[in-house]
Amino acid sequence: MERLFHEKGMNWEEIEKTLNSYRKDDVDWKRGRVPLYAFYADDDISEIAKKSYMMFFTENSLGHKAFPSVAKIESEVIRMVAQILNGDSGVVGNMTSGGTESIFMAVKTARDWARKIRPEVTAPELVLPRTAHPAFNKAAHYLCIKVKRVRESSNFRADISAMEVAINDNTIMIAGSAPSYPHGVIDPIDEIAKLASKRNIWFHVDACVGGCLAPFVKKLGYPVPDFDFSIPAVTSISADLHKYGFTPKPASTILYRNEDYQKYQSFTFDEWPGGVYKTQTFQGTRPSGSVAAAWAVMKYLGESGYLEIANKIMNIRKALIFGINAIPGLKIWGDPDLSIIGFGSDIIDIHAVGDNMATKGWFAARNLEPPALKHMLMPVHEVMIDDYLRDLNESVNKVRGEKVVAEKREVIY
Ligand SMILES: Cc1ncc(COP(=O)(O)O)c(C=O)c1O
Repeated sequence: MERLFHEKGMNWEEIEKTLNSYRKDDVDWKRGRVPLYAFYADDDISEIAKKSYMMFFTENSLGHKAFPSVAKIESEVIRMVAQILNGDSGVVGNMTSGGTESIFMAVKTARDWARKIRPEVTAPELVLPRTAHPAFNKAAHYLCIKVKRVRESSNFRADISAMEVAINDNTIMIAGSAPSYPHGVIDPIDEIAKLASKRNIWFHVDACVGGCLAPFVKKLGYPVPDFDFSIPAVTSISADLHKYGFTPKPASTILYRNEDYQKYQSFTFDEWPGGVYKTQTFQGTRPSGSVAAAWAVMKYLGESGYLEIANKIMNIRKALIFGINAIPGLKIWGDPDLSIIGFGSDIIDIHAVGDNMATKGWFAARNLEPPALKHMLMPVHEVMIDDYLRDLNESVNKVRGEKVVAEKREVIY
């Protein structure tokens, strides 16, 4: 077996050369060839993020007493996100490592809230539209909660009557997405809120994708439905910064309507020699670099910066939708609200098109139901539109007329 851990350390030149050699098969995100994962707006924002990240590279956000600066920075980030999401001064929250952890914390907090407020519930359940992110199931799996996923309606948005049927006396949380990852549509949050109010159920809005985008798209005048704390029955919201906040990973937020909910989130343990150990979120040691960088990028951009980015994204979206619709046989699935666009066909094997695109250096993000290629658009995609549409047209023509393969393909995510 090749020995990887050498007796003598490497110098930087060798390290850099080796790491670069490992990158040779990576898809080129800077040329817009990756439709998700690598959120990038521009070099100026990246520089601000890198500089502020490096300032707090060594600090640890577990140690708020030792580093009151990082406690202050995190609380200001939370306040900024709360303001973006129409929260009043009672809204509280924490930064987490990502959407998955934010959702995990919401589910855990809702479970512990229900244990206290609704002790008659002994077998807790979550009710979700089928389009909700798998992070809910991951959380429920770890926390021993049953999940009921309810079929979405034909426009890919949550089916309110189906959700109502699924809710019972054991339901401790219901959720909706703003927007959903598969189809990019915002669930009818105001309608789900009515279900939550009627039964005094915790209502979580997963705005991991839309939290730092939808409010600005709406301010630009696009028709974006309400989804945030302006709806009184919304109990908690997950909103990622490392997606449309354009701040470096890992950075997300979990926000609660008020402290009466958030107080069920923390974990405390003192039956060991070390005394009282208390954390707000899942992690122990936490990076402070991404907290400082989130603060810095948000301060640097301000509302005008986020509006400019949102405008750019919506223009890219327009160009992409126009180009896709111009290719005979292709169509956009549903009526996406923001930056996630999924497209497919009734007559062309769209996954075969994706395979062909991959040979041309494009990473193909996919859905299965209905079969689709998809994009989560960001400013870096501005450079790719013409090349992408040309290659897409060629790929469609290559497989046009071939039989549509019905079997399920593995979706890389
Ligand atoms: C709607 C939605 N929620 C949650 C998540 C999970 O976020 P993360 O990958 O940061 O854990 C994602 C990721 O794409 C998402 O699209």
